[in-house]
Parts: sequence; C-alpha cells; structure tokens
Amino acid sequence: MQKNVAELLQSDQFLQEVQIKGWVRTFRANRFIALNDGSTIKNIQCVIDFENTDESLLKRITTSAALSITGTLVESQGKGQRVEINVSNIEILGDSNPDEYPIQPKKHSFEFLRENAHLRVRTNTFSAVMRLRSALSFAVHKYFTENGFYNFHAPIITGSDAEGAGEMFKISTLDPKNPPKKENGEIDFSKDFFGKETNITVSGQLEAETYAMALGKVYTFGPTFRAENSNTTRHLAEFWMIEPEVAFMDLDGNMDLAEDFIKSVLKYVLDNCKNDLAFLDERFVKEESTKPQLQRSEMSLLEKLNFVVDNQFKRVSYTEAIDILRNCKPNKKKKFQYIINEWGADLQSEHERFLVEKHFKCPVILFDYPATIKAFYMRLNDDGKTVRAMDVLFPGIGEIVGGSQREERYDVLVEKMKALDIDEKELWWYLDLRKFGTAVHSGFGLGFERLVQFTTGMGNIRDVIPFPRTPQNAEF
Ligand code: 4AD
Ligand code: MG
Repeated sequence: MQKNVAELLQSDQFLQEVQIKGWVRTFRANRFIALNDGSTIKNIQCVIDFENTDESLLKRITTSAALSITGTLVESQGKGQRVEINVSNIEILGDSNPDEYPIQPKKHSFEFLRENAHLRVRTNTFSAVMRLRSALSFAVHKYFTENGFYNFHAPIITGSDAEGAGEMFKISTLDPKNPPKKENGEIDFSKDFFGKETNITVSGQLEAETYAMALGKVYTFGPTFRAENSNTTRHLAEFWMIEPEVAFMDLDGNMDLAEDFIKSVLKYVLDNCKNDLAFLDERFVKEESTKPQLQRSEMSLLEKLNFVVDNQFKRVSYTEAIDILRNCKPNKKKKFQYIINEWGADLQSEHERFLVEKHFKCPVILFDYPATIKAFYMRLNDDGKTVRAMDVLFPGIGEIVGGSQREERYDVLVEKMKALDIDEKELWWYLDLRKFGTAVHSGFGLGFERLVQFTTGMGNIRDVIPFPRTPQNAEF
C-alpha cells in the first residue's frame, strides 16, 4: 500500500521515490507545499523546483486543492521537519478556488467553523479532535473487551418512554396532516407503523439490564437522543453514550468500574495520540491565557489528563456535599444562581463545578442521592429516602457519568413505579427480570462527547461531534 504522511514522516528510506496524495495546507514562496492527508496533525513539506514548473500549474496549488505528488524523500535542510520530499511531479487531482474556499489559513472562530462543519475537519484543531474521538472510541471497546464485557447493541427505536431521562423524539409514519383518530378525538397510534406510540431512545440502559442478567457483563455504545431545549456548551440533542451494566455488582463496584474505565481510556490516548494532544495542549494553554485570571485553568491540558489518571477520585455522599455547599462562600454570598438551602435540592452544574474545581480540586463521585431527584429504577437505601445513585463530576465539564445500583426487589420496584404513576404494563418485561432470577446489578452511562470534550480541552460540545444536533440546528 502507498504510504501516508504519518508513515513517511517516520521513514528513513532516503532517496527513495515516494508518492503521496493529500490536500494543500499552505503554499509558501512558490516553493514549499505543506501537504496534509489526515493521517497526522503534521504536514509533509514538498519542495518544488519552481523555475522548472509551469506557472499555470503553480497557480493551481491553492489551499485545500487535492494533489498527487511524486518525488524523492530526503533529509530536510530546513528547520521544523526531519524529512521532506523533493518533488519531481505534481498532479492536481482537484482544484480549490481560493476566492470561494471558506477556510483561509488564518484563525477562524469556532462559530464560523460550525457553519462550515463539512469542511472544518480540514483544520488542525478539528482534525486533531476527530482523530482523538476515534482513538477514544477504540479505547472504549478495547477496555471492555479486555475486561470480559460483551458489546450489546441497544435498540434505537423504543416503545417505552418510562426511563424518565428526558424528553423524547417521537417517530411515526402517520400523516401529520390527517392522522387516524379514536372516537375521543385522540390520535389512534394502533394504526401507526408499530401499532403503538414509539420514540427514539434516550438510553439503552433498561435493555442493557436484560442482557446483563444473562451475559453477566455487557456494554452499549450508541447514539441516544434527547429533545430538551438545552442550549448549553454541554448538551446535544443527539449524543453517544457508553453504558456498561454488570450482574452481581453493587454501587461500590460500579464506582470502581467507572473510575478504572475513565483512567484507562485517558491513559490510552496519552500513550497513543501524543502529536494531537501536544497540539491541543498548546491551543488550550493559549486560549486559557485570554481568560480572566479567576476563570483560568490552573493546569495545562496534558497536566489535567495526567492528573486524572494519577489521582484517586474523591467519593462523597450527597449529604456531605450539601453540607459543603450550604456553607460555602458563593452560596452564602448568593453568588450561585440557585441557592442551596436544604437537603433534597437538585444540584446544578454550578454546584457540581464548585465541588470539583474549587473545593476538592479533583474528580468527584457523588453517591446516595435523594430518591426524589433520581430515576425510579435506582435501589432504595435502608433509610427509605436515598437511592444508590452515583454521578462522576469532572472539572470544566460537571457531570460526565450518571449511574446507579438498580432496584432488584420486585415489590419495592412496583411500589416505586406506582408512586410515580409509571404503567406496570408498559414495563412488564423489565419487571420480569425481578421475577426470574433477580440479582444485585449496577451500571452507568458516560456521555461520550463530554469525555471527548475533557480529553481535547474543547469548550463547546458542538465542536467534538462531527455534525452536532442542537435546538434549531440540523444542517448537513
Ligand atoms: O445521567 P444520564 O441521564 O443517565 C442515564 O441515561 C442512565 N440511563 C445511564 C445508565 O445508568 N446506564 O446520562 C448519562 C450521561 C451523563 O452523565 C452525561 O455525561 C451524558 O450522558 N448526557 C449528555 N451528553 C450530551 N448531551 C446531553 N443532552 C446529555 N444528557 C446526558
Ligand atoms: Mg444524570
């Protein structure tokens, strides 16, 4: 196979003829082409003998034109690269009109690049982010495979909307202008494609539980959808979630798993994505330096990643956290948007970030939340008011993982569903798990984009997924 830029940059087969295809990043002094083929953040320098090259050809060497270059690999005379190509032949594979190409070799705002999401991956920042996204995805599968988990594909279309994780997108093939109606005037979904109301999933958890209760250790890694109108830097309407589910594992085991898993995938990219991380580290430090002192990250990106890998996450009960928050300065001085007055309050991202960034200064796992602010399936503690829930909180991100030990006791679960008005008939299959060989089991969900955000230091979640879906935005 033809070598790519990453391979040529490692090569020391000097004076050999090589061929390389890629896109022009820059063209300097009618002589130096920086060619990139996506295999690495680095470009290969291709030096042309411009005096013997057709002027009409030189004019077509413009930013983002696709070229095929043949030449000899030599040790570079100049600074900044070890090897370069002395060009013997250039073929223009695809022209790129410089007057129309939207991405110039200068700094563009991320907002502008989002409007050109089909081309933004040709920039250094986005190509680095997307290569890291790919490496993280591989690391996820590697971790679970090496630890005895089976990959389970949760369905995307679901008939239940009982998870309670968020607003759902409905799917239907009924004619919206003239849907069949029941006698009472309501839409008759029995005439719809699936014979009932269906949605696209907010989480594969409930289905993953069924598989964990047969295969033992499973995980899903797929797209999930939430129709919340949250226009924040951490929410998408379509995002990818990793959800392991393990039979015979309690909440302590769940916390151990989450911590070990996150550290392992971060370690993987620290070891395997050095060039991209070095580039993003520099970008991160530069960007932080433009922020006011108090909002600046004290660590560089690489320091943050190494810190997470090397240090234990702090485990703190919800009750302890509320005590800390009630008595902290920003609460007393009413600097929080939501003031914490009493036990039972739901934590907002400002509180989570205070705990992680200001108080503990390390990743935190909060556990044993009030039952009233968590989902119906979480296992009730003996105190009758808290559940075996856990959230992993990260600096700059807030919640990155949400999980729990599941309620495995049939009677307790039914009781809970009744209290919350959840139809038992709709979740008959979920209740069956508690009838036929029930057992302690636990799992969690990690938002993949939030992990990519943390790893790459990108401030906005829209910049770590190829084509973000957010309210009012589904171009491309
Ligand atoms: O905390 P959540 O809602 O938990 C669940 O869905 C459980 N069923 C998971 C489980 O126990 N198997 O979501 C899990 C994680 C969050 O911690 C967050 O990282 C991410 O998913 N997340 C989002 N990421 C991007 N955009 C959104 N709108 C998100 N909502 C949740
Ligand atoms: Mg959550």
